Amino acid sequence: MPVNSVAERLRQANHVTVFTGAGVSAESGIPTFRDALTGLWERFDPAQLATAEAYRTDPSLCWGWYEWRRAKVLQAIPNAAHLAIAELANHVPKLTIVTQNVDDLHERAGCEGVIHIHGSLHTPRCIDCAVAYGPILPDQDLSHDGCRIEPLRCGACNGLIRPGVVWFGEMLPEHAWSAGLAAAEGCDLFLSIGTSGMVFPAAELPLRALSKGSTVVHINPSAFEVSADEYFLQGPATHIMQSLLTDAFG
Ligand code: APR
Repeated sequence: MPVNSVAERLRQANHVTVFTGAGVSAESGIPTFRDALTGLWERFDPAQLATAEAYRTDPSLCWGWYEWRRAKVLQAIPNAAHLAIAELANHVPKLTIVTQNVDDLHERAGCEGVIHIHGSLHTPRCIDCAVAYGPILPDQDLSHDGCRIEPLRCGACNGLIRPGVVWFGEMLPEHAWSAGLAAAEGCDLFLSIGTSGMVFPAAELPLRALSKGSTVVHINPSAFEVSADEYFLQGPATHIMQSLLTDAFG
């Protein structure tokens, strides 16, 4: 379906759900997980960095990596795709943003009520008693490629402070997942932007939208297989989203 047809669907839509992955933040300079050249996973073993067991085994390596990523997020600014997504709220009756990303670039672009189904880098908590801690200002220059940092300890139980993200093998936050499902099943246009669709249950959301009769459009510079009932706009999120908004709303 060409951009102008998706633009027509956008004009007619009552409820648009935008589902994003790391690719929507790529043009803000935040590496995605799996892209061959910049993929963070290529440089680190995910099992070393993104599980509770790994954290307890080597907290300073894991916390250092997350703090490096958080510093990149703090240095980044929302790109034209984040801004175009936020602008949609001024044109469609109902807009819901569901993201797999743990950055806050959607919020900083002006989106409200963003559903973070994989948690957030800005909501650390105690690994033992789950007491929440606000964003901790990085206490050293983290711009170089990752370094060991001893995590802080919980004031209540002296447990390790862990990132507020969902690790492999962990359940998604129940409220966020239910809200994400409802947004997928309740919309009439579902835009999936910048995700490889490799991680479940998140990758189930486009399928849920499709099963309820929604128009599902994937936006990605890398071509990948979609079913006959889904649409694909190939290109970087900034370019596609700006074109879509201009075509749809001038
Ligand atoms: N615009 C749009 N998409 C892009 C861009 C861009 N400028 N650059 C890259 N992409 C695409 C890539 O082609 C890829 O399909 O973004 C996608 C990023 O895929 P992943 O790195 O797998 O990230 P994501 O899909 O968000 O991963 C899902 O996996 O590891 C877990 O918890 C982690 O939330 C993450 C989840």
